[in-house]
Amino acid sequence: KIAGIFGALMNRGQGKEGVREGPNAIREAGLFTQLKECGIRALDYGDVEIQAVASDDEWKKVKYCRTVASGCKQIAEKMELIIKEHGIPVMLGGDHAAAIGSIFGHASAQRQLHPPTGSSSSELHAPLAVLWIDAHGDINTPLTTATGNLHGCPVSFLLHEMTGYIPHDLPGFDWIKPCLTADRIAYIGLRALDQDEMYLMEKLKIKYFPMQLVDQLGIQECLKQALAAIDPKGVLPLHLSFDIDALDPSDAASTGTPVMGGLTLREGLQIAEFVHKTGRLSAMDLVEVNPELGTPHQRAKTTEAACAIISGALGKPRQGVPFPPGFEL
Ligand code: ARG
Ligand code: MN
Ligand code: MN
Ligand code: MN
Repeated sequence: KIAGIFGALMNRGQGKEGVREGPNAIREAGLFTQLKECGIRALDYGDVEIQAVASDDEWKKVKYCRTVASGCKQIAEKMELIIKEHGIPVMLGGDHAAAIGSIFGHASAQRQLHPPTGSSSSELHAPLAVLWIDAHGDINTPLTTATGNLHGCPVSFLLHEMTGYIPHDLPGFDWIKPCLTADRIAYIGLRALDQDEMYLMEKLKIKYFPMQLVDQLGIQECLKQALAAIDPKGVLPLHLSFDIDALDPSDAASTGTPVMGGLTLREGLQIAEFVHKTGRLSAMDLVEVNPELGTPHQRAKTTEAACAIISGALGKPRQGVPFPPGFEL
């Protein structure tokens, strides 16, 4: 399989414009060279531009819902295209609202590849599992969000259990249908949940590993338990949604909503490598890199960290690669 890398220039899911420069900053940090050097094949599928919808006034608190919705629809189509061309889509963000599109598109593609066989539960279950790496829960609803920023809400649009929480008249989002059940998503890295998010996590019995569990159990054990929870048989295609703010600001400061006390880059790399090792990485997001924030040094660290996480998930070994068989010095 070839990695199909594209930029999602989404910046309306939160207030800081510069996050649309994330994809190019990650490319400029040398992502493609790095992949090539270790023999990982990758194609650049370009960018999904987000068209501003002309009159996009707030809906209750929610900002730019028409623009975010139409951008996510295009992102979903891009994901489906790449999967149909037998690629592993890698979405470079852009803010995390883009994951409404990437996961919806991934789920639709999987459903077309493996149509449900009849029982009602298999119809609800898109054949995929999601590992969500983030400081935040991103499970606010358009009605509970305190900020009005849709990058804090993507998961609520995706879960069947939350159908009743998504208003039917939310402009632009008529195309979105839930595509995941709550037992198919696990979180690692949490340390900044809103109260209503905490309520939803518990109510829906979502498996989550906040930072204190990472400290207590170690990242390997968290990964084992997370994967066992969302994919007990170890057979499902995996979607890795990696918000760079899951990492500690000492490793990734150039992001819009940094939170102290995060994952080390080495823990982030362990997550990437663990997912690669399953052999079932089917799509990934690397979002919330905002190169307009922080010092040049912080920007360089953040984009380098993003490249390393992506490369690790696609199979780059940290020690480097040997010569191909038959090669002699
Ligand atoms: N919970 C806060 C909100 O609803 C912060 C969300 C941050 N999300 C992110 N993808 N960085 O706005
Ligand atoms: Mn700018
Ligand atoms: Mn976050
Ligand atoms: Mn996020």
